[in-house]
Amino acid sequence: MAKLKKVYYCQNCGARHNQWLGRCPVCGQWNTIVEEVVNKQAAKQERLLQGKIPRPLRLNEIEAGGEYRIKSGNSELDRVLGGGMVPGSVVLIGGEPGIGKSTLVLQTALQLPFHTLYIAGEESPSQIKMRAERFPGEGKNLSLLPETNVQKILTVAKETKPEIIIVDSIQTLHSDLIDSSPGSMSQIRETASELIRFAKETGTIVLIIGHITKEGIIAGPKVLEHMVDTVLHFEGDRYHQYRLLRSLKNRFGSTHELGIFEMTGNGLQIIENPSGVLLTAGGMKTAGSVAAVTTEGMRSFVVEVQALTGKAVYGTPQRSVTGYDPKRLNMILAVLEKRNGIPLSGHDVFLNIAGGFRLYDPGLDLAVAAAVLSSFTEIAVTPGTAFAGEIGLTGEIRPVSRIEQRISEAIKTGFDRIVVSTHQPVNAEDFKAEITSITNIADLKRWFA
Ligand code: TYD
Ligand code: MG
Repeated sequence: MAKLKKVYYCQNCGARHNQWLGRCPVCGQWNTIVEEVVNKQAAKQERLLQGKIPRPLRLNEIEAGGEYRIKSGNSELDRVLGGGMVPGSVVLIGGEPGIGKSTLVLQTALQLPFHTLYIAGEESPSQIKMRAERFPGEGKNLSLLPETNVQKILTVAKETKPEIIIVDSIQTLHSDLIDSSPGSMSQIRETASELIRFAKETGTIVLIIGHITKEGIIAGPKVLEHMVDTVLHFEGDRYHQYRLLRSLKNRFGSTHELGIFEMTGNGLQIIENPSGVLLTAGGMKTAGSVAAVTTEGMRSFVVEVQALTGKAVYGTPQRSVTGYDPKRLNMILAVLEKRNGIPLSGHDVFLNIAGGFRLYDPGLDLAVAAAVLSSFTEIAVTPGTAFAGEIGLTGEIRPVSRIEQRISEAIKTGFDRIVVSTHQPVNAEDFKAEITSITNIADLKRWFA
């Protein structure tokens, strides 16, 4: 008889307890602890089977594997991965349900020149086939496996030796070694670790799709993020067509890269020139709409920042932000009130980054301040002006990263004046545009007198 043991896991932080508790003492969350049954005997046997005695290697015995990467053919995905997929690596692609994770991997898989095994845990093969017919690529190298038992999946993988395994999604898998239901903390942890072990032993690339919860945590296990090599986050507003692929962790590349896609009737299209799509046609002529040059990873692009201010009807003024850090907006509003004497504490402020994107670049501060001022004074910024600057608590304008690249991008997009910090080292003669430097947020007044 297999020995069954009951353990209790917190669904929020993954902490293990010996008894049920109302509140997890580790993360402080209420009602997150669930009972799980672990089949100890089976787990022990599995460990024994794996029990080869390891030998440590001297550093000079180890051959450095060159920087070998497999291109997926999807330029945005490759960019975010740091130039392609590394053999034996495990990539987790997280995102809210319905954002387009399956679409992204299926579309990429159809064009891969390598043998790919797609584990279909969520949709039936015929549903996937129907979807695939809308995408380019024949999928000659793609095999589907409708199976959720990880031991069976790995048996198939050992036999068919695919170069790439796609798991859609980790929440549907289960392992024989554990009795709890699929999607539970311990199942996710166990199935993922079996996949990871397989990837490392065979050099297979494993792409794991994981749904995330409202709070933005890759569902259930934060632990999964620590186990895999790369964590990508697919985000965007479901009601907008644009999607961003961001890297949150990457053992094989930088985490600053950003992939930009548009969801169309025929799958995801790559957007190579984001500035073009992020600016509303004929925009930036109305009060409250300002252009900012931002940078994400190696790329710069121009985005439209929109603000709307109005006298607060209720006692507490409203602050509503889409696509930008609300705390940062509050800081900018406080600075504008203190340094420029604008009575914003009595006004509602709405802020929106056009296109449904969430951007974290502090270089957007100056454009945000300008948009708020513009809406407040009802004066539009001179057409053709773009902003790039960070704002400090004393109202000083600080330099931003990659300024040359930002200015070039603004010029390419059709802007002829760029407002930057006085402390920004930039050679104005190099550019066919007017570079205006300002020291303090109070200097913004000039445009909105
Ligand atoms: P999906 O990839 O199934 O999301 P996820 O795997 O992240 O849950 O994408 C679901 C949404 O994408 C669905 O609401 C329809 C939309 N969609 C398109 O707009 N165009 C397309 O070509 C496809 C395949 C999906
Ligand atoms: Mg899906």
